[in-house]
Amino acid sequence: MSGLAKPTGIALITGASNGIGLELAHLMAERGHDLLLVARSADRLATLASGLQGEYGVTVRHFALDLAVPGAATTLHDYCRLQGLTVSILVNNAGYGDYKPVTGADAKVLADMLQLNVVALTELSCLFAADFKRQGYGRIGNIGSASAFQPCPGMASYGASKGYVMQFTEALHFELRGSGVSATVINPGFTETGFIARADMVGHAITRGAAQAKDVATAVYDAMMAGEMNRVVGWMNKLWAQSTLFAASRHLVLWMAQWRLRNRGAPKSGAAW
Ligand SMILES: NC(=O)c1ccc[n+]([C@@H]2O[C@H](COP(=O)([O-])OP(=O)(O)OC[C@H]3O[C@@H](n4cnc5c(N)ncnc54)[C@H](OP(=O)(O)O)[C@@H]3O)[C@@H](O)[C@H]2O)c1
Repeated sequence: MSGLAKPTGIALITGASNGIGLELAHLMAERGHDLLLVARSADRLATLASGLQGEYGVTVRHFALDLAVPGAATTLHDYCRLQGLTVSILVNNAGYGDYKPVTGADAKVLADMLQLNVVALTELSCLFAADFKRQGYGRIGNIGSASAFQPCPGMASYGASKGYVMQFTEALHFELRGSGVSATVINPGFTETGFIARADMVGHAITRGAAQAKDVATAVYDAMMAGEMNRVVGWMNKLWAQSTLFAASRHLVLWMAQWRLRNRGAPKSGAAW
C-alpha cells in the first residue's frame, strides 16, 4: 500500500455508484482497503459492495443517501459513529455539472448542485477532519475539476463550485500541516462517466478525447495517499490551469474559457455565451 502512513480505518467514498467513484472503489478494494460506499442508488451500491467483497476479500459497507439534502453530511457522520466505524480516508467525489447559460438554468438544479458540490463536501471535510486529527492520521480527497481555475461561461455555477472546492481544500491542507492528516484537491478534465450526460454535454466537442475514469481514479488515489495539496490530471489541463494564471487580464481568461467550453462545430443554438 502506497502513502506516508498506513491507514487503520476504512475509506468512505461518496458517489461510488458510478464513474470515477466506482473505479476508485475497485482500486481501493484491490489495494486492501475496507470501504463504505455512499450514493443515492441503493441497488447499484449493494451489487457493487457484494462484487468487491467477493473479488478482493475486503469488507464493503454501503449507505444510500442523497447528499444534496441539507443535513445529509451529519446523517452520514452519525451513521459512522453509531455503527462504530473508524474512518481514516474520506473521498468527497459525488458531484455534477449543468451546461446551460445562467439565464436558461433551473434555479433549483443549481441550488441542489451547490448543496452537493460545496455544502456537503465542506460539512463532511469539517466533521471527518476533526476525527482524523484526534486519530493522528487521515486522508481527505476532494474532487475538483479543471474548471476550478477560471470562470466558465456556460457552466458558471459548476466552475465556481469547483473553484470553491480548490480554495477550500488548499486552505484545509495548510491548516492540517504537521497533524498527520492531509487534504488533497484532485482536478480532472472531462472524463468518460455519467457526468457528461447529466451535464447535458453528450457529443459536445470538448468531451472528445475525454480521460478514462480508471486513470483518473488512479491519480486521485496516488495524490491523496501521498498527501499532495493539489493535483491537476492530464497535461492539457495542467497547461490550461497555468495559462489562466499568467493571462494578462480577467477578460482574456474569460474569452479563453469561452473558446474552450463552446461547442465548436455544433449548429448555433442561440445560446447567449
Ligand atoms: N466526468 C467529468 O468530466 C468530470 C470532470 C471534472 C470533474 N468531475 C467531478 O468528478 C466527480 C465524480 O463525477 P463522475 O464524473 O464520476 O460522474 P458520475 O458518473 O455522474 O458519478 C457521480 C456520482 O455521484 C453520485 N451522486 C450524484 N448526485 C448525488 C447526490 N445528490 N447524493 C449522493 N450521491 C450523488 C452518483 O450516484 P447516484 O446517482 O447513485 O446518487 C454517482 O455515483 C464529480 O465531483 C464531478 O464534478 C467530473
